[in-house]
Amino acid sequence: MKKTMLAKDVYWVGAIDFNLRSFHHYSTSPKGSTYNAYFVDDEKKCLIDTVSHEYYETLVAHLDEHLENQKLDYIICQHFERDHSGTLPQIMERYKPDVLYCSKLGLLSLKGQFDTEGWNIQAVADGETISLGKKKVTFYETRMLHWPDSMITHLQGSEGCDHCNILFTNDIFGQNIACAERFIDNYDRGVLYSELKRYYANIILPYSAIVLKALEKVVTTIGEVDMLAPDHGLIFRTKEDIDFVYKAYTEFATQSFKKSAVIAYDSMWYATERMAQIIGEVLYEEDIPYVLVDVQKNHVAEIMTYLMDASIILLGSSTRNNLPMTSMAALVNHLMGLAPKNRYGAAFGSYGWSGEAPKLLTESLEKMKVEILSEPLRIQYGVNKEQEAECRKFAKELADKINAIS
Ligand code: FEO
Repeated sequence: MKKTMLAKDVYWVGAIDFNLRSFHHYSTSPKGSTYNAYFVDDEKKCLIDTVSHEYYETLVAHLDEHLENQKLDYIICQHFERDHSGTLPQIMERYKPDVLYCSKLGLLSLKGQFDTEGWNIQAVADGETISLGKKKVTFYETRMLHWPDSMITHLQGSEGCDHCNILFTNDIFGQNIACAERFIDNYDRGVLYSELKRYYANIILPYSAIVLKALEKVVTTIGEVDMLAPDHGLIFRTKEDIDFVYKAYTEFATQSFKKSAVIAYDSMWYATERMAQIIGEVLYEEDIPYVLVDVQKNHVAEIMTYLMDASIILLGSSTRNNLPMTSMAALVNHLMGLAPKNRYGAAFGSYGWSGEAPKLLTESLEKMKVEILSEPLRIQYGVNKEQEAECRKFAKELADKINAIS
């Protein structure tokens, strides 16, 4: 197996899942993903994170190749979500390391998930440093990025060790990209940016305020690093690429978006879909770009990724049994958890005899703190000429308000 070296005595020992398409059962990964684990071959042999359960044999193959029958001394667990800890019990059993290091809140997560009897666990403080021999690692808590237990690890080497100033960032700066390469050197920056955005939109977004503080802490406390090594996807190892990802994260976390709309609709018999089309056409006539998204045909994670570029969200649904359609309900659930900020919105929909959906969607948008631009638009049955005019009027009024704001 070809060894992947980050710096002298620092190696990638993770796994690549080229065919992963459902990430954590709530997001998408059309380009697969990786579970990055790292090995430091110093006086103390140290593993940083493990991998998802199905890649136990892969991790063992890497480790055995590096250890060559020597003892694994330390495991650093930066976060205990199962994609990074799924193989932990087996690894602990097989290698019996002297110490497992985690954050103080990691201790709760660890003990809640695993039988830790016989494990020597040390919960480290924010800023605490341990020596590995020639190299040392310092831990920094990154609570809620994106679990309470999350921390990052700064490795520094002895003088003369090229690139031995590496920040292992766990889920931060992750992207779901599976490819043979481990570094982003030759990877298409447009695709990288899209995958960073998809990951951020569906996993990191609710913690954007913490992201900005964490970035500041990284820059002021840790300073310049040679490499950012996340636990998913590719590793950043030039100043240009590190600046690229800092800039992308600052942009995502600030949530200041372009004037454009996502019109997401769930239509039973085409009338709500037709309303969505008319609204989109009018917005565009008023110089507001839009995308139309049928929520029955698009995963909620894709819709959330569209919304990363848009300041306006319009939700449309037919009414079925006094409620919005089920795919729309799933989208609202997903959006509410991610709590996007700085958005404007409104709701619409057709109905047969009761028509509660647009009102309920408006209430959901209000709960998300979306600034409501209009009373909901309700159309009974199909969209005839008169009702088309109603849709056009609704959309024109929305456009006037949006154009007045921005
Ligand atoms: Fe939060 Fe990559 O797990």
